[in-house]
Amino acid sequence: MQMNDLTDKIAIVTGASRGIGQSIAETLAENGAHVVCVSRNLEAVSAVARQIESSGFKAQAAACSVGNHDEVASLVKSITEEHGRVDILVNNAGITRDTLIMRMSQADWDAVLDTNLKGAFNTTKAVTRPMMRQRAGRIINISSVVGISGNAGQANYSASKAGLIGFTKATARELASRGITVNCIAPGYIETAMTADLKENLKAEMIKQIPLGKIGKPGDIAALVLFLAGEGAGYITGQTYAVDGGMTMT
Ligand SMILES: NC(=O)c1ccc[n+]([C@@H]2O[C@H](COP(=O)([O-])OP(=O)(O)OC[C@H]3O[C@@H](n4cnc5c(N)ncnc54)[C@H](OP(=O)(O)O)[C@@H]3O)[C@@H](O)[C@H]2O)c1
Repeated sequence: MQMNDLTDKIAIVTGASRGIGQSIAETLAENGAHVVCVSRNLEAVSAVARQIESSGFKAQAAACSVGNHDEVASLVKSITEEHGRVDILVNNAGITRDTLIMRMSQADWDAVLDTNLKGAFNTTKAVTRPMMRQRAGRIINISSVVGISGNAGQANYSASKAGLIGFTKATARELASRGITVNCIAPGYIETAMTADLKENLKAEMIKQIPLGKIGKPGDIAALVLFLAGEGAGYITGQTYAVDGGMTMT
C-alpha cells in the first residue's frame, strides 16, 4: 500500500498563500492531490497555485475569507460541482492580534475568533454534506501549542486554538460513522511571516525551551498533514498532535 498516495483526491487548504499553508498545499499536490489553495488575497494565492502547476502538479486558487459563512458555502459548492467530490480539508488559515487582556479590544477578539475558529466551523460545515455522501473524508485542523498551554498576550488566539481542539473532538465523534476522520495539529514555534517579527533575544529565549534546540519549518507541519490525509491514518480520529520540537510534552 502506498500510504501517502493522494492521486485524484480533491483537497482544500485554507491560508495557502504563504507559510505553513503554502507548504501543506505543495506537499499534498506533490503526492497527487488536486489542491484548491484558498486565501483572501487572490494574487498571492494564485501565485502559489501557479508555482505548483509549473512543477507538474495540480492546483487552483480561490479568494475567500474563511470567516464569511456565505462566501465559504458558495466556494465549497462550486468546488464540489466542478470536481464531484471533496476528500481533504485543511483548516490552516489563522491570524493573531496579540495584546494583554486589559488592552484587548472587542475587534481584536472578534477578528481572531472569526478567522481561527468560526472559519473552521464554516468550512467544516460546508464539506460535511459531500464527505458524508462519499462516506469518506479527512479534516485536519491547525491549532497551536498555545491552545494547550496558553500564552500571555494571546488570550484571543489561545482561546481560538483551544476551541479548535474541542471542535476537532466533537466533529470527530459526529462524523466517524460516515468514514470521516477529524484530527488536529498543534504547531510550536515555526518560522513564517507570523513569527518573523519576534525580537532576536525573545527568539533565543524560546529556542532554550525547545528540547530539539531549533525553530520548526513549515515542512515539519506539512509532513504530518500528509500522513493524516493518507491511507495509513485511517484508524486515527479526534487526536491533537503537537509538532513543536518537544516544547510541550503532556
Ligand atoms: N508560525 C507559527 O509559529 C505557528 C505556530 C502555531 C500555529 N500556527 C498556525 O498555523 C497556521 C498558519 O500560520 P503561518 O505561520 O503560516 O501564518 P501566516 O504566514 O501569517 O499565514 C496565514 C495564512 O492565513 C491566511 N488567512 C488569514 N486570514 C484569512 C481569512 N480570513 N480567510 C482566508 N485566509 C486567511 C493568510 O492569507 P491572506 O493574508 O492571503 O488571506 C495566510 O495564507 C495558522 O492557523 C497559525 O495560527 C502557526
